[in-house]
Amino acid sequence: MNKFTDIHCHIIYGIDDGARDAEEMHKLIDLYVKDGITCAYVTSHLTPGLKQFDFDLYNARLQEARVYIAEQGYDLELKSGAECLYSDAMSQYMRSHELPTLGESAYVLVEFMPNVDKRTLEHAIKRLIEEGYYPIIAHPERYSCMSYFYPGRLKKKYDVILQCNADALLGSRRKLTAHKVNYWVKKGLIGRIATDSHRLPGRVPHMTRAYAHLKTNFGEAVAQKLCGEVDI
Ligand SMILES: [Fe+2]
Repeated sequence: MNKFTDIHCHIIYGIDDGARDAEEMHKLIDLYVKDGITCAYVTSHLTPGLKQFDFDLYNARLQEARVYIAEQGYDLELKSGAECLYSDAMSQYMRSHELPTLGESAYVLVEFMPNVDKRTLEHAIKRLIEEGYYPIIAHPERYSCMSYFYPGRLKKKYDVILQCNADALLGSRRKLTAHKVNYWVKKGLIGRIATDSHRLPGRVPHMTRAYAHLKTNFGEAVAQKLCGEVDI
């Protein structure tokens, strides 16, 4: 069975719009193991200026999840992280170097409002890099400024990773979005596929399906690079 790393999910309960309670978190963890995921960065939403992030609660719930995994004897490692919504208020976290990163790395998973313009997006990337972070753009397929060709131009200008969601790649909801995501993959513009799992029943991991799709359409090396085990 193939083994995968998921760098974007919301399975820690009671922190954001992810899992609602411990039982739902446990069911999601069960699905992760069935889906072949052996490492997941649990990236609850951090929304500077909108809502205070409760780091103590997050850490306590992350520990609860790890205890459940140990009790079940699962081969699944959970690492800390956050999905940081870019806003002016985020600059404060950046300046004080308090922005949560993926695990112990300098990678920051950053998301934007759907209508973000290119100028704002590039300003955010520039600022993150200036402060010593490596930006990973969460689900670029959601932003209206992301045409077929813009990611290519963006990657020529900045050292940035684009992370698309497995469901968008597979076209579970929108065929046009899937066409664009598959075009970006073909052009080598996507750095990772992640699940962005939230809650049952609709937003659950589909890494095995994403891997199979990539292997069939783009070859095993691409599937492995985008979904395989990785230590960020
Ligand atoms: Fe997310």
